[in-house]
Amino acid sequence: MLKSVRVGAEGGAKPAAIVVGVFEGAKGAAGLDPIARKLDTTGGIARAARRPECTGAVGNIVEAHPDKNAPAARVIIVGLGKKEKLAAPALRGALAPVARRLATTRDKDVRFEIPLGKLTPKTAGQIIGETLGLLTFDENEFKGSATPAAARPAITVRPSKSAPGASIKRGLALAVSCNHARRWGFTPPNIATPDWMAREAQKIARGVDTLSVRVIRGAALVKEKMEGHINVGKASENAPCLIRIAYKPKRARAGVKPVVLLGKTVTYDTGGLSIKPPAFMTGMKGDMCGGANTLGAMHAIATVIKPNVPVVGLLVAAENSISDEAYRPDDVLTFRNGVTVEVTNTDAEGRLVLADGLCWAEAKEKPACIIDMATLTGGVITALGSTFAGLWCEDDKLRKRVESAAETTGERTWRLPHDESYREMMKSPCADILNSNPNRKAHPIQGAAFLSYFVGEKTPWCHLDIAGVADAETQMGVLVKGAPTGWGVRLLAEYVDSL
Ligand code: BES
Ligand code: MN
Ligand code: ZN
Repeated sequence: MLKSVRVGAEGGAKPAAIVVGVFEGAKGAAGLDPIARKLDTTGGIARAARRPECTGAVGNIVEAHPDKNAPAARVIIVGLGKKEKLAAPALRGALAPVARRLATTRDKDVRFEIPLGKLTPKTAGQIIGETLGLLTFDENEFKGSATPAAARPAITVRPSKSAPGASIKRGLALAVSCNHARRWGFTPPNIATPDWMAREAQKIARGVDTLSVRVIRGAALVKEKMEGHINVGKASENAPCLIRIAYKPKRARAGVKPVVLLGKTVTYDTGGLSIKPPAFMTGMKGDMCGGANTLGAMHAIATVIKPNVPVVGLLVAAENSISDEAYRPDDVLTFRNGVTVEVTNTDAEGRLVLADGLCWAEAKEKPACIIDMATLTGGVITALGSTFAGLWCEDDKLRKRVESAAETTGERTWRLPHDESYREMMKSPCADILNSNPNRKAHPIQGAAFLSYFVGEKTPWCHLDIAGVADAETQMGVLVKGAPTGWGVRLLAEYVDSL
């Protein structure tokens, strides 16, 4: 939509556009925020605000084109909703339509003169940066010669009192990480193979001296007994690999355990021999979004957050395909922690690759905590739709921090339960556990219960099932229809920032 966004110098000549706010409730110009009224030297803003289409509802937009004595040739009056409710969600809701409008007006520079409500200038500036930055996502990367190139304007944002330059820059930088994640998820599966993801990880780490990447593949995976990972990936020509990306703080304190972020990176999910029907297979290029978003978070952590604690990202990358090599229903797999699994359904592959990721984290990383993110179950979409990701976490301290980060970034979560009865439901007559109980009860919870067999009792662990929130079904806010959302990139960065 937008080509690029940069932060300009403070002050200077008139910007091409100014964005001001109007509240819902008070009639017409009376709803105008005081900053807008003060800027309204010619009365043109008040005139536009009196028009009936100016409702003040969140994201409602009316333009004023005051005369040449006004502070800008174009004034975008955006609805901020009820005055007493102005906080981050309303600001996000208001700014995305503004950014979309700016993409069509061709204004080269813009200044935001909006009220802050309960927000600090720092937060408001960051939200402006994030919103504009997220709309630079290029949804036309795979358009060819049959589609005319769309105009993508470059925009300069001028800092203001309500939006300081440094915080806009921080928001823009977070959006860069998030857009990387969206692009990885968007890339078709004939390009985005496990090896390709490994190369992308190496590419983003190249310019960042606190990041290092190690890729474990082939015989090394066998040596590490990555049983689920190898089995899920073995039918594909695109061999599986484990991508380990480590962030090491510049001033590392000795003996501090790392936060481990683990992502399901199934570059394509056909379902395997338990093959998916066509309507369910389409879109499964997005089954690597857990890993893509984990890698995006690692980028944000290293380039924006720069915490004093070490963080390790693990991407278990594999393609769930079909050949005479394919693993099959009825197979029994022995995991590296000794747990045996009877495969009932090769389409419940995510938990098999994640189980190895969890075992690896436990055995090799000595983690302070583990947060995994996965497009794990269709069941979580049935339960929560695209509003919340499912969250499982029995460690109160970790859960509160994750929930509070989610609140801040607007990537919302809803807690679902762990219980011994669900672990019981996963028991197998033949092996220790089943990868999926065919009764289909409590489906997303089964996934979490399965994973719990691979995490040490003492390790604080949070599981996020993002199947419903990883892709955007509609063009809304900063989301692009049919493209990944990058859900969790900002949340995980914010979480690490809170440590
Ligand atoms: N990748 C899917 C889950 C999924 C479904 C993600 C729809 C995004 C959109 C996962 O591997 C899967 O196939 N889950 C099955 C498991 C079942 C067959 C045991 C499910 O949830 O239906
Ligand atoms: Mn599957
Ligand atoms: Zn899957």
